[in-house]
Amino acid sequence: MTGEPAGERGVLVVGLGLIGASLLAALREGGYRGRLLGCDQDSASVATALDMQLIDAGSTEPQGLLPEASLIVLAVPVMVLPELVARLAPAIAADQVVTDVGSTKAALCEAVTRRLGRMPAWLVPGHPIAGSERSGVTAANAGLYRRHRVILTPVAQTATDAVRRIEQLWRACGAEVECLTVERHDAVLARTSHLPHLLAFSLVDGLARRDERLDIFRYAAGGFRDFTRIAGSDPVMWRDIYLANREAVLAALDEFETGVARLRRAVESGDGDTMLAVLSRASHARHYFDTLLNQKSYQAMEQRNIRYQAVHGGSIQGRIRVPGDKSMSHRAIMLGALAEGVTEVEGFLEGEDSLATLQAFREMGVAIEGPHQGRVIIHGVGLHGLQQPAGALYLGNSGTAMRLFTGLLAGQSFTTTLTGDASLTRRPMDRVAQPLRLMGARVDTAEGGRPPLTIQGGQALQGIDYDMPMASAQVKSCLLLAGMYAEGSTRVREPATTRDHTERMLTGFGYPVRREGNQAIIEGGGRLTAGPIDVPADISSAAFFLVAAAITPGADLVLEHVGINPTRIGVINILQQMGAELELLDQREVGGEPVADIRVRYSSLKGIDIPVDQVPLAIDELPVLFIAAANAEGVTRLREAAELRVKESDRLQAMADGLAVLGVDCTLYEDGIDITGGAYGGGWVDSLGDHRIAMAFTVAALRAGEDILIEDCANVATSFPDFLPLVNRIGMTVTEQTGDA
Ligand code: S3P
Repeated sequence: MTGEPAGERGVLVVGLGLIGASLLAALREGGYRGRLLGCDQDSASVATALDMQLIDAGSTEPQGLLPEASLIVLAVPVMVLPELVARLAPAIAADQVVTDVGSTKAALCEAVTRRLGRMPAWLVPGHPIAGSERSGVTAANAGLYRRHRVILTPVAQTATDAVRRIEQLWRACGAEVECLTVERHDAVLARTSHLPHLLAFSLVDGLARRDERLDIFRYAAGGFRDFTRIAGSDPVMWRDIYLANREAVLAALDEFETGVARLRRAVESGDGDTMLAVLSRASHARHYFDTLLNQKSYQAMEQRNIRYQAVHGGSIQGRIRVPGDKSMSHRAIMLGALAEGVTEVEGFLEGEDSLATLQAFREMGVAIEGPHQGRVIIHGVGLHGLQQPAGALYLGNSGTAMRLFTGLLAGQSFTTTLTGDASLTRRPMDRVAQPLRLMGARVDTAEGGRPPLTIQGGQALQGIDYDMPMASAQVKSCLLLAGMYAEGSTRVREPATTRDHTERMLTGFGYPVRREGNQAIIEGGGRLTAGPIDVPADISSAAFFLVAAAITPGADLVLEHVGINPTRIGVINILQQMGAELELLDQREVGGEPVADIRVRYSSLKGIDIPVDQVPLAIDELPVLFIAAANAEGVTRLREAAELRVKESDRLQAMADGLAVLGVDCTLYEDGIDITGGAYGGGWVDSLGDHRIAMAFTVAALRAGEDILIEDCANVATSFPDFLPLVNRIGMTVTEQTGDA
């Protein structure tokens, strides 16, 4: 709850069904101090509401109660709403605001305008996206709106202050309030709610009318049950919705029919490729909605706050393989999609970041099978075969996805918008937008060069000669991808060596990238040819275990099949300099990338000055290296690492804050940190939703004097979905608690 609707002398709810009664129950439970009033044409419902102490006074007629309320909520069926508004209008006083809860909005606005000549400033059209199969006043549920969306659709005439007051009312019930235009609301709901109900009604009706219906229902399996559950909904209410939202429902039906017709043709002609493209896109979109889009969709979803409790102490023993490399997983999907032919990927990271990339290509028309146990098959469409996605591409938490996509989308014929979660929306994108503009691309950013980004299609790109102001593999990769679509050569100079997976993989796909000193050079106009990709285990994920074993007395751990690309092994070099006992076993090359098994045993560590040339080579591993430093004798100094401040969180600040909680002596600088090793305790640290901060503090518990509680760990799933089972398997005790965010 976020408190009561302050300053409102009373709330009158007209219509004591589930929706209206639940609103009253939520206000009552939240301690609202004004009058709660209820009206329903059914006197028994009014009496029950009084008995349940949902309302202080009730009536079958609203007029008498009106003066006692400053907020009036019309929770009646959509068909009777306009009439009710017109009837109440003359009695609405200057300080009163009215809202409704109907699931279609254009029809209401039209009917009210017809009756009153204009939309009154005091009417705020609204729609809580919540419900239940139960109905009536006795179904009142004070928690019905908690973490559910309420959409308000103010029009030009609606008073701003009226909108604010209705927002406050719903927030007091725990709801999240968003404003949409009337048209957008009706279009969205037509597709997410009205169309699926219509299809369910129609399917059940069609089957029920056939002669063999008894058999059909007898043999109906789970699919039928799942698809048709909503056909049991209230027919009158749904008729009213279809009458009211006619145009938007017809548009949604047209789109649906086009899709069905395409599948019909594919079935008729035995076109398995089209079937697979459509079915796998849909199947994965469904999973994607469950994982990535939960927080964005208009469905009622709980946001989860995952807290780790890392028990202090523990041992480290065993042989494990951590998940596939995130950087390579992104690139494998990107290049596979743009290649000619079929690319088979093994070892793909099934984390949320790389899945966001995979889903984005599905939305651009690429058929992708899997992932299934790290195996993905991509049916490439060629450099010019992508199709415009139906809406913005949502890239979750992934900076890599957004920056690399910006480059490759700059070369397309269509316009695309890229969005992401709250963390990604704070991250700087000018670093790619500016050089791309020099190439002739049109990239629009939000204020301060932040996402969302809109990349205009159809621009002719020219190669450039670019000196990167920061050592960033993402910027380099973005420009190399754009360079494939540019005329002439694109040269990117890096101030320090950064990871070179893009160059290696492009070369592996038959698209040469030259290296001259600190420059990577690509010529436009080439093509990519599909081939197999074996993604090694991610050294950035392995790093947590390298440090875990290095700081734990008696530890002996082997990490299998880890990628040891020279542009990524800063963590190994730094740990070795600190005195860690690391052995690279069975070094081999797999698909153009060096790989080894790494054995780590405990040894005492000493503080060092981290060499600046190692910083870009260990950029993602620095948070866990701070934990190594906290366990080393003496001071470890890091400088020239300001890039850490613009990662998924400000990692310098997040680590310094957490280390301070544990009692580790550290001094923060603008571009680095000094950490003095020694004994430390436990406590409550905030990961700020950053996966690498959460995992680093988990590892810290191995040598802490008390348990460490780490808040906001859900994003560990972006890079390391099985982190907890693995740490528990090798000798730590870490549990997960799920609570309300
Ligand atoms: C990455 C490059 C690095 C790294 C990120 C992945 C990549 O970012 O931190 O996790 O895959 O290219 P910068 O290019 O911003 O340094």
